[in-house]
Amino acid sequence: MKVLVVLAVLLLAAVLVDGRVFERCQWARTMKNYGMDGYWGISLANWMCLTYSESSYNTTAVNHNRDKSTDYGIFQINSRWWCNDTRIRTANGCHIMCEQLLSDDVGVAISCAKRVVRDPQGIAAWVGWRTHCKNQDVSKYLDGCGLDSSFL
Ligand SMILES: *[C@@H]1O[C@H](CO)[C@@H](O)[C@H](O)[C@H]1NC(C)=O
Ligand SMILES: *[C@@H]1O[C@H](CO)[C@@H](O)[C@H](O)[C@H]1NC(C)=O
Repeated sequence: MKVLVVLAVLLLAAVLVDGRVFERCQWARTMKNYGMDGYWGISLANWMCLTYSESSYNTTAVNHNRDKSTDYGIFQINSRWWCNDTRIRTANGCHIMCEQLLSDDVGVAISCAKRVVRDPQGIAAWVGWRTHCKNQDVSKYLDGCGLDSSFL
């Protein structure tokens, strides 16, 4: 029994290191390292709330929309405007294949999210942010992470 528990914990650790679904504070640290705290005036806690509401920090999340477009990855980036999945016509603003947004290596996804937020709509482009984070106290997303956000 104890051996099974140890194995289960090791397996879970392997999945977390693999980065398919990030543990909350690990994802917060990762975004901070990529310069997301305060990027375009958006606090790290808001980026955390946004990605939690969009994907629960799941890098492989894929959701199909009624308009035939698809949202990809931890930021749920849309295939009509930002990436190319060859299924529909796209503006491909991030100049990438949508599949790249599902990688464990989140560099491409973060660069593309930075591009999205620089558009006039800003962070309001994300429905998940408008619905669950806007005008909310989002500080809980950094609780216990030992990260002092420079921005509120
Ligand atoms: C992450 O997303 C993928 C694709 O939608 C799904 O198959 C997987 O179960 C999700 N993982 C978790 C832990 O929810
Ligand atoms: C999307 O990718 C396909 C396949 O590589 C390519 O033929 C097409 O031109 C691309 N479209 C855009 C808008 O990048």
